[in-house]
Amino acid sequence: MPRHLRLGVNIDHVATIRNARGGRHPDPVRAARLAASAGADGITAHLREDRRHMTDADIERLIADIELPLNLEMAATDEMLGIALRHRPHAACIVPERRAERTTEGGLDADGGRGHLARFVDALNAAGIRTSLFIEPDARQIEAAATLGAPVVELHTGAYCEAGADAAPAQLARIEEAAAAADALGLECHAGHGIAFDTVGPIARIPTLAELNIGHFLIGEAIFGGLDKAIGRMRTLMDTARRPDDADVA
Ligand code: PXP
Repeated sequence: MPRHLRLGVNIDHVATIRNARGGRHPDPVRAARLAASAGADGITAHLREDRRHMTDADIERLIADIELPLNLEMAATDEMLGIALRHRPHAACIVPERRAERTTEGGLDADGGRGHLARFVDALNAAGIRTSLFIEPDARQIEAAATLGAPVVELHTGAYCEAGADAAPAQLARIEEAAAAADALGLECHAGHGIAFDTVGPIARIPTLAELNIGHFLIGEAIFGGLDKAIGRMRTLMDTARRPDDADVA
């Protein structure tokens, strides 16, 4: 198991707060700089069709000013593909996007959408952008991602993070099985959505996961203690979960 589990900090909701007033504060690029110094391994940003949080200018500034690898979350549309190919971020994560949703509510249908997705994966791969597909922890979806030639999958952890105590073990088992299946197919496996301090430990302990992408909780928690402290604590919980002899994460 790789000892270091990468933390991608999703800064979309810094932009959400900025956009509530339409000015320049708080600046997501400043948040990305702070995330870098607080222990993030990468920055994740979702440029939505409706630009409800990140804007095109934010993506340009992140590429120009931030040294950490950028993971651009994008829908499989020609507009987004053009933007990705122009900026060539380190990574691109293809996500489903529905206008009415409040957040990315479920995974991509990589299996049913193979015909549509293939040229996006091919074009991103050809440009040297590390392409991932955001999917449910489901064997069929993982096999479809492998067939499409995506080198990475990101497993949607929302159902686990929202499950109550009774349902959580079954949801966690789904993620564990999916991560093992992805690994067996030679795919790098990431996970994210809804992760908080009280849900990160069991996910971080899954040995075949290489990266977690975490946003909303960290930005919300930053209100109470600061972004650097929130990221620092998340980093510690992830590291503790990866320590071989440590059974318990505080
Ligand atoms: N990974 C992906 C692919 C996402 O779409 C999101 C949400 O934008 C996240 C991770 C982070 O989820 P959250 O903001 O709930 O931590």
